[in-house]
Amino acid sequence: MLRFSTAGESHGESLVALLSGMPAGVPVDEVFVNRELWRRQQGYGRGGRMRIETDTAHFLSGVRHGKTIGSPIAIEIENRDWKNWTEVLPVGPGDPAKHKAVASPRPGHADLAGALKWDFPDARYVLERASARESTSRVAAGAVAKQLLQELGMDVASHVIRVGAAELERDAAWEEIAALRAKDEVLLNCVDAEAEQRMKAEVDAVLRTGDTVGGVFEVVVHGAPPGLGTCANWDERLDGLLAQAVMSLQAVKAVEIGRGVTAAESLGSQVHDAIGYAAEANGRHTRFMREHNNAGGVEGGISNGEDIVTRGYLKPISTLRRPLQSVRFDTREETKAAYERSDVCVVPAAGVAAEAMVALTMAKLALEKFGGDSLRELRRNYEGYVEQIGKY
Ligand SMILES: Cc1cc2nc3c(=O)[nH]c(=O)nc-3n(C[C@H](O)[C@H](O)[C@H](O)COP(=O)(O)O)c2cc1C
Repeated sequence: MLRFSTAGESHGESLVALLSGMPAGVPVDEVFVNRELWRRQQGYGRGGRMRIETDTAHFLSGVRHGKTIGSPIAIEIENRDWKNWTEVLPVGPGDPAKHKAVASPRPGHADLAGALKWDFPDARYVLERASARESTSRVAAGAVAKQLLQELGMDVASHVIRVGAAELERDAAWEEIAALRAKDEVLLNCVDAEAEQRMKAEVDAVLRTGDTVGGVFEVVVHGAPPGLGTCANWDERLDGLLAQAVMSLQAVKAVEIGRGVTAAESLGSQVHDAIGYAAEANGRHTRFMREHNNAGGVEGGISNGEDIVTRGYLKPISTLRRPLQSVRFDTREETKAAYERSDVCVVPAAGVAAEAMVALTMAKLALEKFGGDSLRELRRNYEGYVEQIGKY
């Protein structure tokens, strides 16, 4: 079974990802992994932290001579900022006078709930783990999962379809979305230059006013065969697993599969994707065709062979330069919420982190369906299945 977990604090020594259950023989390209980490750090509206960090994956185990070897993969990503925090967050008792308390909880953060939960006198330790810096580890693990998926002809990419009130007002083709990854300058990761300028104007407006903005990203899985996930058990449905994977990202407050949101206000005849049949599969897994893909490639919790489309809705960033009302932990007196250096818009970066979560979900389901301890065994099982469904 593919399993992954992460450890690390925002200003600690390092972030760590642990990924186990990968078959042996999967090529792992460190340049690709680091490029994924770089992509997570991009986007118009990021704060000063991203200028300090140049994330680099350090593989501690599980990959040798450029390939997985079947053992757990441990990846470390150093926090460059740690050098400024060694006295603030020492492992030993250190000097209490050097502690940087987060004295008044920030609305929209885990600060208050976490301090109450863990019985801390301020929110410093809560913030350290709740911070989306953690998503760096997910992107590193997801980059390995993506390389497994590539071996099975699957690819995962994302783009931004809304920032604040500015929306991409047309459909995007897979090729356009996939091409965004090659860009060396990422603005808002939108396929349409005019819409991207409107999105940039939304960020400029909040930069001027000291506010923040949210938005919507879309993750697309291209090349997935029909049959991943199941309608047999509630907790194995593909749509449910994607929802949890993407919702678990910091600031994501709603997840949509395909056109799930507008489907709720439309008629059935307008929503469901009529089925056709082509003479040739033409690079697809089967000859069954769809008129459109409003279902987002998932019906009954099972992939149906179309692109798998998941959208994540981000609330505006919680840390405000003009902080909201809060209360001091020590005296309970009213004050302004604490301020920590912050981004004002992270929709493109959240899309990259969501790609990782979707890739890990798809890799897990692919391994469950096709199995195998080595890539060769996995691929043989996969090809046998693809040949079987190609006959239909
Ligand atoms: C890539 C990324 C970067 C983020 N950066 C910040 C940030 O700089 N400042 C901030 O207040 N929130 C940021 N967030 C969101 C917070 O981490 C998140 O809102 C907070 O931990 C509370 O969790 P919740 O929104 O999921 O309830 C970021 C989220 C993501 C996905």
